[in-house]
Amino acid sequence: MKLFSVATVLASIAATTARTFTVFNACPFTIWPAMFTDLNVGSAVPNFANGWQAASFTSVSFSVPDNWRAGRIWARRDCNFSQNPGPNSCLDGGCNGGLVCDSRTGTGVPPATLAEWTLSADPNIPDNYDLSLVDGYNLPARISNNKGCPVAQCNVDLGPNCPAPLKGPFDSTGFPVGCKSACVGLASFFSWTGDSANCCSGSHNTPQTCPSSGVQFYSYFKSNCPTAYAYAFDDATALFTCPSSAKADYTLTFCP
Ligand SMILES: *[C@@H]1O[C@H](CO)[C@@H](O)[C@H](O)[C@H]1NC(C)=O
Repeated sequence: MKLFSVATVLASIAATTARTFTVFNACPFTIWPAMFTDLNVGSAVPNFANGWQAASFTSVSFSVPDNWRAGRIWARRDCNFSQNPGPNSCLDGGCNGGLVCDSRTGTGVPPATLAEWTLSADPNIPDNYDLSLVDGYNLPARISNNKGCPVAQCNVDLGPNCPAPLKGPFDSTGFPVGCKSACVGLASFFSWTGDSANCCSGSHNTPQTCPSSGVQFYSYFKSNCPTAYAYAFDDATALFTCPSSAKADYTLTFCP
């Protein structure tokens, strides 16, 4: 009986383990990382603020529950929260809330490179993770891990060579700090009414009716960053898995 109860205690400890996430700013400038959990999908959240300032070449580490679902981390550029802190406090990636993004409405203003995870506590279901340019690009990024699972990365600065209609926003020196996706940058009557080949919306909301060939400038993003989502249905080349039993720790590096 004694041994059984020890085993039970150990099992319950194992069942509540968490992963260690590290977010490293390897950019030669300050950025403001941000985090969001879609609370409509899951209630487990990381043990860390939803936004922070990261000086160049600094990192933070925090624990993330095994059952973190629909979570995302991105970074904001050129922020100043001194007046009216909110989505427009940064040139891109800003969120409702200011420095710390609102837990319900604090998604980032595009364009922003997104790192996305749905972890799993069920040994039969793997972790899923990806880098996404579906909301555009604002920084190079890499997702790596300590268990030998695939690396997702986009380590090219997509700003300077971004196609003209998508280029920007620009900083005070005129440098492009982002490259919008066609869905956002070429917003038209049809995308706002919900029927857009660039956004895979409306009648284009399936892989069959939204081929990558119908998404303008798809190849600019995909050829430079083949292991990142360049449109909504890029699962085959950009969605990665890691056995949840491996309990991988993940590192997100900006400007890898
Ligand atoms: C932030 O904005 C305030 C108000 O506009 C300004 O006074 C301050 O110089 C800005 N800070 C930086 C670091 O640019």
